[in-house]
Amino acid sequence: MIVLGIETSCDETATAVVDSDRHILGEALLSQIEEHQPYGGVVPEIAARSHLDHIDTLVAQAMDQAGIGYDDLDGVAVTGGPGLIGGVIVGVMCAKAIALAAGKSFVAVNHLEGHALSARLVEKVEFPYLLLLVSGGHCQLVIVEEVGRYRRLGGTIDDAAGEAFDKTAKVLGLGYPGGPAVETKAREGDAGRFRLPRPLIGRDGCDFSFSGLKTAVRRMVDGFGENGGADPKDVADLCAEFQAAVGDVLVDRCRHAIKPFRAHNEDGYSLVLAGGVAANGYLRERLETLAGEEDLRLFCPPPRLCTDNGAMIAWAGVERLLRGMTDGLDFAPRPRWPLGR
Ligand code: KG4
Ligand code: ZN
Repeated sequence: MIVLGIETSCDETATAVVDSDRHILGEALLSQIEEHQPYGGVVPEIAARSHLDHIDTLVAQAMDQAGIGYDDLDGVAVTGGPGLIGGVIVGVMCAKAIALAAGKSFVAVNHLEGHALSARLVEKVEFPYLLLLVSGGHCQLVIVEEVGRYRRLGGTIDDAAGEAFDKTAKVLGLGYPGGPAVETKAREGDAGRFRLPRPLIGRDGCDFSFSGLKTAVRRMVDGFGENGGADPKDVADLCAEFQAAVGDVLVDRCRHAIKPFRAHNEDGYSLVLAGGVAANGYLRERLETLAGEEDLRLFCPPPRLCTDNGAMIAWAGVERLLRGMTDGLDFAPRPRWPLGR
């Protein structure tokens, strides 16, 4: 089975052709980072127009690289939400047009499901598994029972983890997106010289909170004073402490999720890490250690499949088509679309 996948829900126009044997036959990605950089974040109107300008070329690139024509496809999968609605509409209209013209199945994929199933594109991860989904817009713990069957254990009550990385980078003048920049600086710094809070640690349940951490970073930066502000050592140490705090929070919240996961899924043995923040090497190590302690196996896609990409959407399309799950061309793009119960 061969599926074309299209992703346009945020600031990456991404396409890929994936088959049911886990091969990425072709892929193309265009980041809009430079277009949004002057504004320090993604501007929805600019994003939508840029997706529209480039989507045709990127679909053609992925198809050419795969060396196939539309007739060779079994279906077209697209992010149907949640996300910036202008961009989602561009992707959905493009996917519907191809599906209709080529007479192929149309699959609307929840972006979060794309992340949730991404580990299975790399390795045969068995259901059920415990998923920590950490991205720029989302932070949640979910039991993945089957394709389309998700049980949410907890989520963020304010900001997402990626958002905290982005805002930390912004107040430190490290640019957008913040995750990779903070990770790079943190490598040269020492955690512990500055002390940041670990919100919700030790509390019952599996919810997250990052806004207090973000505010604490801003106060600390303000405290560096006006004459010159933070020196490079301060920036590195603060990034290291921030990353350590996020790591402590993620590990603690995951630990709390393992009990309810085990209670309902005696045969589950996997912890899956996904979403843009999962590209962070330090956080991957922290969760690897946790998995070892808790007798779970950690699965995490390579960084390029953690951040938004077309292959994860194409793969979710493969998983859905294999189970006969398709959508009608009357599907309406969804700005909000929670994953599971
Ligand atoms: O999954 P994603 O590409 O888009 C959403 O669905 O939100 O995630 C983007 C987020 C951004 O907040 C970005 O700063 C963060 O993932 N990110 C990272 C790293 N690479 C990307 N955060 C921490 N460390 C990284 N290396
Ligand atoms: Zn994403």
